[in-house]
Amino acid sequence: MDLRMDIVVEYFPYFMQGMGLTILMSVVGVLMGCILGFFIALGKMSSIFIVRLPFVWYINFLRGTPLLVQLFLFHYAVLPTVLGSTTAITSVMVTLSLNSSAYVAEIFRAGLQSIDKGQAEAAHSLGMNKFQVMRHVLLPQAFKRSIPPLGNEFIVLLKDSSLGAMIAAQEILYWGRAAAGQYLRVWEPYIMVALMYLVLTLSLTYLLNYLERRLDVK
Ligand code: ARG
Repeated sequence: MDLRMDIVVEYFPYFMQGMGLTILMSVVGVLMGCILGFFIALGKMSSIFIVRLPFVWYINFLRGTPLLVQLFLFHYAVLPTVLGSTTAITSVMVTLSLNSSAYVAEIFRAGLQSIDKGQAEAAHSLGMNKFQVMRHVLLPQAFKRSIPPLGNEFIVLLKDSSLGAMIAAQEILYWGRAAAGQYLRVWEPYIMVALMYLVLTLSLTYLLNYLERRLDVK
């Protein structure tokens, strides 16, 4: 097997562009996922059944159906209907954000519920109201405990953004498929694609390890 380096060289700039888009889409996904996920976690923790119900089903749906199916549903049906039109990048960002929010909601809920009940009771007895207990006692600790699973979530999103190639979002895998199609070669394009993702996920892993050490997450 001889590798054609000229293909790698020709497509390298496109792969770099694709990498930029992959990073952008997953950063947006994880940030929006965190913001939405926070409120969904609070909703799901409500003590009122009827308030809890829509949040429970939001999470059930997004975790219980394949991400690729969600992407097609949003790209071809939901977003064109709601917004009038959509682009591949918009659809990927929206789908990743919503999908991630369901997983992040469970991460936050687990984090909040892992804090010993006695802490909230103690804070209440000091005269704090529900909001203050949440803001000053529960959230800072829960957030710290959520950092490792949130890091995993980021890595998952980075890789799953490759599904965007299925609706022609010009991320890394899109360019791999383009190169494979142009030259009818499979080794060079897909090795390149794999290496690009590996570089991204390994960098992120190191970054997260560093962050965990800095914040002294236990
Ligand atoms: N790839 C799986 C799916 O198609 C899992 C998606 C995981 N998403 C996440 N945000 N952790 O459903």
